[in-house]
Amino acid sequence: MPRIAYVNGRYVRHAAAAVHVEDRGYQLADGVYEVCEIARGFIIDETGHLDRLDRSLRELRMDWPLDRRALQLVMREVVRRNHVVNGLVYLQVTRGVAPRDHAFPTKPVRPALVVTAKRMDPRAAQKKADKGMSVITVPENRWERVDIKTIGLLPNVLARQAAIEAGAQEAWFVDPDGTVKEGASTNAWIVTADGTLVTRPADFGILRGITRGTVMKVADSLGLAVEERTFTVEEAQEAREAFVTSATSLVTPVVSIDGKPVANGHPGSVARSLRDAFFAIAEKSPSC
Ligand code: PDD
Repeated sequence: MPRIAYVNGRYVRHAAAAVHVEDRGYQLADGVYEVCEIARGFIIDETGHLDRLDRSLRELRMDWPLDRRALQLVMREVVRRNHVVNGLVYLQVTRGVAPRDHAFPTKPVRPALVVTAKRMDPRAAQKKADKGMSVITVPENRWERVDIKTIGLLPNVLARQAAIEAGAQEAWFVDPDGTVKEGASTNAWIVTADGTLVTRPADFGILRGITRGTVMKVADSLGLAVEERTFTVEEAQEAREAFVTSATSLVTPVVSIDGKPVANGHPGSVARSLRDAFFAIAEKSPSC
């Protein structure tokens, strides 16, 4: 059964799917994206992801490629055609195809849309969570508008590669004042000695993760306090627990930071309970 992708109005074989060489996403990273988790046949937190897509598009003065309802139908059709019950759906909108020029195209062009879906084995993700991940820290070197979910991810690519080469799985960007921003593709959290969850405020300087927002609701349902404030690498290394959140990793414990074990170097119980309770609290929209 071949994988199917949606590219600008057509459902095509994934292996043959292609965009124009002058797609502004391809040449200039002039585009935005979203990744939604698919779990047990449901799209998780679709409203939050599409609201954030709307914000990203507005911040970059780009139009929706289709209206919201039509995009939701395309997402479902791609999920259906790929028989994804557990996995993810990826959507990418670029400013469109135009002769290469840094300024916006003078003649209006239609934004370009690509939607793909991928099956993933939830047992493999659970295994990773049971093991926990190691993170390294890297100096923050991204632009200031990381609150927009753009496809311009070169610093994130290099940071993740540095993590892999160091035998870790994620890299946390750290400001010159020693405070943790977020991971290459995850938000960063710690649990303090008194059991309070701490994560950086998302007003600016990090992406406002949709999973981050849902985990706040999960924490509330479990009676756990959440504090939005900055924390340093040292505080994270001495914390009771640390973990990351994202649509692809949900809640995954961090067991070491720059080679220093967090607590006893094993996943903690708070991260585990947040992960276990996640699905019950998250928004679930049928994927077909
Ligand atoms: N990444 N921070 C960054 C820099 C991210 O790229 C992501 C998501 C997050 C978490 O956001 P959310 O909870 O909405 O997934 C935080 C996606 C999964 C990716 O790039 O694959």
